[in-house]
Amino acid sequence: MSAQVLKEPPAQYAATSGTPAFFPREHTAALGGAKETGLLPVPEKDRFYIVVVGHVDHGKSTFVGRLLADTDSLPDGKLAQVQKACAAENMDFEYAFLLDALLEEQEQNITIDTTRILFSTRQRDYAIIDAPGHREFLKNMVTGAASASAAFLLIDSREGVQDQSRRHALLLSLLGVKQLIVLVNKMDLSDYSEARFQEIEKEYTAFLATLGLTPQHFIPITARHGENIAGRGDKMTWWKGPTVVEALDGFTNTEVLDDKPLRLPLQDVYRWDDRRIFAGRIEAGRVRPGDKIVFQPGNKTATVKALEAWGAEIPLASAVAGESVGLTLEEQIFVERGAVAAPAEQPPFVTQELAARIFWLGKEPLRQQRTYRLRLATQETSCVISRIDRVVDSVSLASTQSKEGHSLEVARHEVADIVIRTQKPVAFDSYDAISPLGRFVLLDNQQIAGGGILLVDEKKAEQLRSHLHPTTGKVDRRAREVRNGHPGAVVWLTGLSGSGKSTIAGELERQLFDLGRQVYWIDGDNLRLGLNSDLGFSEEDRAENIRRAGEIARHFADAGTILIISLISPSNASRNAVRERVEKGRFIEVFVNSPLEVCAQRDPKGLYAKAKAGEIQNFTGISAPYESPDEPELELRTDLQSVEECVAQVLEKIRSIPSPEVDWTI
Ligand code: ADX
Repeated sequence: MSAQVLKEPPAQYAATSGTPAFFPREHTAALGGAKETGLLPVPEKDRFYIVVVGHVDHGKSTFVGRLLADTDSLPDGKLAQVQKACAAENMDFEYAFLLDALLEEQEQNITIDTTRILFSTRQRDYAIIDAPGHREFLKNMVTGAASASAAFLLIDSREGVQDQSRRHALLLSLLGVKQLIVLVNKMDLSDYSEARFQEIEKEYTAFLATLGLTPQHFIPITARHGENIAGRGDKMTWWKGPTVVEALDGFTNTEVLDDKPLRLPLQDVYRWDDRRIFAGRIEAGRVRPGDKIVFQPGNKTATVKALEAWGAEIPLASAVAGESVGLTLEEQIFVERGAVAAPAEQPPFVTQELAARIFWLGKEPLRQQRTYRLRLATQETSCVISRIDRVVDSVSLASTQSKEGHSLEVARHEVADIVIRTQKPVAFDSYDAISPLGRFVLLDNQQIAGGGILLVDEKKAEQLRSHLHPTTGKVDRRAREVRNGHPGAVVWLTGLSGSGKSTIAGELERQLFDLGRQVYWIDGDNLRLGLNSDLGFSEEDRAENIRRAGEIARHFADAGTILIISLISPSNASRNAVRERVEKGRFIEVFVNSPLEVCAQRDPKGLYAKAKAGEIQNFTGISAPYESPDEPELELRTDLQSVEECVAQVLEKIRSIPSPEVDWTI
């Protein structure tokens, strides 16, 4: 296998014409969780990701160059080519040049900071994320653009533990990298001294312990000469531990995301051949047609109909973590970029108050009560830092607690425990459970200024879950009905524009009011001017319009009111979904029926004329469908019956609502 340096492909690569762009990874670096390019033809699921960190001069490039060369992972002839180039320039060959040469070749393709250098041992395939010496290292680590299963920490045998070694270790602990190998490099410059090696091991072990890190191995190496990398050489015969390659091969892939509950953050919703395709990259778990899923935040449930993938001729039977898919759903629901699809019975947490540990990189310190933007998976919202509890300096590890009346601030390279209040609810998981959904970044003036993780212990998990439990008041439905003298109900008027819904609704409301009933009428146009002003007339927007209207209606009915609602509500599925949410027997679906020609002729708002002239798109009855109710409680023919007759029939229906609690007659 050859070493390759892979970059995120340019966005246009994903948008091949004639193909839905399921795979654009436009925000991957900033959004976190981007282990893969997402454009590779075969998902590299079993590849093991490692990161190499350490002080700039401690030999990272040489080490990586060596690792590639000694594991036979270089492209054919590369080594000879670089050696020749060095000779021509009269320079000594360095293994670090190998890496530079590889990186340079990729220069034109570089669009984004994540770099992966691939190599293989006999045991398995590896990817080193983040090129050594990369300026964006801290940022990538913090944002999760680079997320590793194991890390190498390099220390120069002469210089020993430096500030950067401490800071990098802190980062590794912050990001939950548990598999760690410390490489004491440049042993040749310390005369291959076992005593010096042990001294560093002792000092660094003690420091790492304060962070809860226990390296699996300390290995003395000389990257330059290849000692203890793939082979041992004869200079450190005192070393009985593993070589770097042996140690690596002994690690396990820690977080097996495939077996976790599904987490599919939506990147976008596409319209394709009349289908709605909900596209994103699966961050955890798997998905199959027939799965019952819930989108959070928002609590929208749906059933997966089919899975589509870019380039695949036929729908997929299933898809797993690391793969990008487009779902089609059985139901028409309104969900947007940011929503996270999850199994209905194992949803992520949803909250507007996040307790987080962050690493700050911003030029300006992070301040209490200031507003930032938060990105988590594909969600984005503005947020306010409501509390800074503790700040830790990433070099000295000195900690400052917040005191009464003193607001702390978090300077660059400090770590802090904070509480964030988000403007919108956010769906997330504990970092140690499902890391891609437990990691976020904060933006200050559109720049990534910090990154953090969310940890939820069992007690907190209980509280968060309990946020979702319905609360019941002390006044029940029966009490209200007794006081009102009649049941609450939803009278749902559906029909074409101009069919007479509003006319009937208005008259019905007046008569019920005059009879002393608790009554209220909500008209579709009015909802669309306020609560639903963000919605248009596409299929999914109408579905959402109806869902929201249904929720309001349900609450009114529960409050004992007779709620009249007049909406075109053209889809059976949407109306039936509302029926299911309202108490049985209290949903009166009234089909306000009038032939299309009659409605178009009445045209009270002049909309049919405009629709026919092509000035209004998706106009019900003209350029968008209307599904007549299957089994309405009542059908009115407004072209044949008078308003009085229609209203009388609805009143009759309302009167027939069974209500054992009250003896009521209109
Ligand atoms: S629904 O389909 O989502 O139930 P709703 O009843 O809220 O529709 O809104 C319908 C009203 O919106 C109509 O009475 C009309 O005034 C206006 N309207 C604007 N554009 C359209 C359209 N394309 N189709 C139907 N109604 C439209």
